[in-house]
Amino acid sequence: MSPENSSSEQPLNLIQRPRRLRRTATLRRMVRENHLSVDDLIYPMFVMEGEGQKVEIASMPGCYRFSLDLLLLEIAEVSQLGINAVALFPVISEQKKDDTGTESYNPDGLVQQAVKAIKQAVPEIIVITDVALDPFTTHGHDGLVDETGTILNDPTVEILVKMAVSQAAAGANFVAPSDMMDGRVRAIRQALDAQGYFDIGILAYSAKYASAYYGPFRDALDSAPKFGDKKTYQMDAANAREALKEVNLDIAEGADIVMVKPALAYLDIIQQIRQTTELPIAAYNVSGEYAMIKAAAQMGWIDEKQVILETLTSIKRAGADLILTYFAKEVALMLM
Ligand code: PBG
Repeated sequence: MSPENSSSEQPLNLIQRPRRLRRTATLRRMVRENHLSVDDLIYPMFVMEGEGQKVEIASMPGCYRFSLDLLLLEIAEVSQLGINAVALFPVISEQKKDDTGTESYNPDGLVQQAVKAIKQAVPEIIVITDVALDPFTTHGHDGLVDETGTILNDPTVEILVKMAVSQAAAGANFVAPSDMMDGRVRAIRQALDAQGYFDIGILAYSAKYASAYYGPFRDALDSAPKFGDKKTYQMDAANAREALKEVNLDIAEGADIVMVKPALAYLDIIQQIRQTTELPIAAYNVSGEYAMIKAAAQMGWIDEKQVILETLTSIKRAGADLILTYFAKEVALMLM
């Protein structure tokens, strides 16, 4: 009996004392329900043209745009830390952008070159490539735009298919359509299969919301839309049933892994999808979620490490198997 309880004149007559299981660190470890592991982490990384370049992103302290030579060194380190996978995002120079994003399926484009080089230098790391037009279009939208400003679905899917096939040809392990066009998962699966890329997986951004949390990422890529917003293709933040509809469609179309994005404001969506699918679920702890923690930590207002672990654990507790996070490297070090 603890001194606190023994000194009490009239102990409460309790059948259950939940605090019994929280008394020591060992006990807490024994009854812990969820565990964050380095195996859960996917590291999003930014690649740019040039050599010897490593440029910090102002709104994402600790995240950099790397030229390919330095990216390879960084990925070797990331792999050494036990991180299984990276998700690649390119910074495309203005003169290579056009209205239709043709650079996106250039077999010698930045992403395609980067994938080849990574698979050669660090063959064991899983490379996931983003399939969407926004880094490649002058207007910054994820799809083709007509003269009225409407984002066109079916013609965009044709380009996304070319892009995905070119990434597979370069050696990507997963292609990850993040564009939210209808029918793109089926079209990509069919094209990959037709070319013999049966083993290349599709990580589908299934429930991707039109979110203000993407702001810092768009700074990183200079890819903010030049007009309008993305609300005719990305989902309305108020909707939950629609997420289930999108997930079910992507599974029917051939997705191997489904994703919810962003993560923190959508933990309920992760939890609901967990009830309805056996597929692995990924959650994207996006740039704005990263920036908020970094900013508060820089002000000295929160304990950064504890907040990172608590945050990522909440995403697992909600039901995610995999977390795309800019904290991946820091967390891998913390978990060692
Ligand atoms: C592009 C894409 C975006 C992100 C990943 N892929 C931005 C957007 O849709 O505007 C955001 C990632 C982040 O904020 O960390 N389709």
